[in-house]
Amino acid sequence: MPRLVLQGSQWGDEGKGKITDYLAQKADVVVRFQGGNNAGHTIVFDNHKYALKLLPSGIFSKHIKNVLAQGMVINVEALLNEIQTIKEQGITSFQLYISSRAHVIMPYHLDLDGASESLLGDNKIGTTKKGIGPCYTDKYARFGIRIADLLEKDALKARLEAILPIKNKELESYGLKPYDLEYLLNLGLSWGDKIRDHVTDTSILLTEEIKKDSKILFEGAQGAMLCIENGTYPYVTSSSPLAASVSINSGIAPKYVDKVLGIMKAYTTRVGEGPFPTELNNSLGDAIREKGHEYGTVTHRPRRVGYLDLVVINHAKRVSGIDYLAIMLLDVLTGLDLKICYAYELDGKVIDYIPATLTEYQRVKPLYVSLPSWNEDISKVTCYQDLPDNCKAYLKKIEELTSLKISMISVGPSRENTIVIEDLL
Ligand code: IMP
Repeated sequence: MPRLVLQGSQWGDEGKGKITDYLAQKADVVVRFQGGNNAGHTIVFDNHKYALKLLPSGIFSKHIKNVLAQGMVINVEALLNEIQTIKEQGITSFQLYISSRAHVIMPYHLDLDGASESLLGDNKIGTTKKGIGPCYTDKYARFGIRIADLLEKDALKARLEAILPIKNKELESYGLKPYDLEYLLNLGLSWGDKIRDHVTDTSILLTEEIKKDSKILFEGAQGAMLCIENGTYPYVTSSSPLAASVSINSGIAPKYVDKVLGIMKAYTTRVGEGPFPTELNNSLGDAIREKGHEYGTVTHRPRRVGYLDLVVINHAKRVSGIDYLAIMLLDVLTGLDLKICYAYELDGKVIDYIPATLTEYQRVKPLYVSLPSWNEDISKVTCYQDLPDNCKAYLKKIEELTSLKISMISVGPSRENTIVIEDLL
């Protein structure tokens, strides 16, 4: 299975970084294909903790080609800081390729993200305020600046001359300060100089790797429920983290995507606003938050916590074709009261899908199946057979209600705390 997509199957923060890191050790290429530094991965190995936002998880292995593909929106300053941080942590030799077609998060995107959120007031999306939405908005309005533009003074100047009057009008309409063209030109060119050696046509690179039958891991950020097309709109991010978007966002043909691994927590979390049917606003929710360290990697906000919702997983499966599941943070549930949501009730009717409107989704009541808890410490278990019976029953219930096979289980933060049932790469 040489080309595997890892995608979040809930509202993001499923622990994708750990599985990507695990699988990346076997990959030749690791690709980020959408989003930007709104994502956050924590990877733990050799007693070191690394926080990645933009860099793909293969960055720790010298032999792996790491690609930031064209579907991404890149804050170059944040990228340079991240590179500096990993260098200071001793990771000095790595391969990084940045798509010349990826879009650049400009300083005014950050200003506009904050301003629109303030104006929305109680209806705010709860964005990460990293300028993601405004940058994608400009991409689709054709007002964007791409990485290639940073490499050539004439190209960047021409883009800024065309775009900046419009952006400055928009900034002024929010009561924000306009930007000076010379300032942005010099800033952009200085970024370009610093990343020049990494910039390339990553569509060509990836297609060459496919011809060589290289093992490629596509690393989705966020999760299916935050997908701009299939998520809980408008409480979503501005890109599609689904396997379906890998092709267009990486510049490769769709036939080259082989399999999809859906990453999910053993429970559910969400950051930001929006409906969350199985949310637990009680001591159980607090216990899961503390045990699971459920605080955002990017914004440090406490995550909202709830019971496992398989309507969400089945939605993710349908819209993107998940082949296998990886269950994360199973150890967090040890000793806790367990329930799994298998369907919703909406206005007296049982439904097994996510309604399109927020008003309907806010009205659904989760229907649960209760399961017995286990009390044994599972964090040292390395083989499925050694898991307690009640724990296996919880996993079997997930397989039964999703008709999907579990291929990996995570029982702790380290690479070592992983049970592999079926090797996918
Ligand atoms: P944005 O992507 O910053 O525009 O934020 C839009 C929504 O997506 C907000 O609810 C964020 O909290 C959420 N979001 C964005 N990135 C992530 C992520 O990596 N994990 C979880 N939630 C995210």
